[in-house]
Amino acid sequence: MTKIAVFASGSGSNFQAIQEAIERGDLQAKVEVVITDKPGAFVVTRANRFGVPVVELAPKSFESKAAYEEKIVAELLSREVEWIVLAGYMRLVGDTLLTAYENRIVNIHPSLLPSFPGKDAIGQAMEHGVKVTGVTVHYVDAGMDTGPIIAQAAVDVVADDREATEERIHKVEHELYTKTLQTLFIARSQLH
Ligand code: GAR
Repeated sequence: MTKIAVFASGSGSNFQAIQEAIERGDLQAKVEVVITDKPGAFVVTRANRFGVPVVELAPKSFESKAAYEEKIVAELLSREVEWIVLAGYMRLVGDTLLTAYENRIVNIHPSLLPSFPGKDAIGQAMEHGVKVTGVTVHYVDAGMDTGPIIAQAAVDVVADDREATEERIHKVEHELYTKTLQTLFIARSQLH
């Protein structure tokens, strides 16, 4: 059973999809902790509903990014977390976390990277007038939504309808993330 931490800053629908896949038996993992940089975010309510522990940390209350991430690493090590799964964590990961969890941090992003990195990828895609956008799961490095791509899926844009496009993207995210994580964890466990 792979022990994971989910990092989220907002609603947490991807966290919920992961937790539901675990409970259905489709993903052999355990969410040991949810980490949020936005105390009070809706992901906290979702985690509470599932009885998953949450650590809420406001980066501003630390003297540096390194100090903030050292606290996170301590929380993860005390729970023997093996993988970090970013799910709407809207903050660049720094050296402290990247070093502690080298090649074991993954992210999901709502576009076909390298198109539309950063904030509001769906808005960027619609603004640009693309007809097809999508979802990317990738390893995390020091850049903004860069890092080796693991999986992608295309999603048709619904013209002039952001809400409908967003709904399609979220649905694909929830399926792609859980499937990709399962493949990744199985592949890695066979290496050991
Ligand atoms: C998701 O669409 C995720 O891909 C995106 O934030 C949303 C979080 O939704 N992440 C990024 O844009 C990362 N650059 P959720 O809180 O409902 O899971």
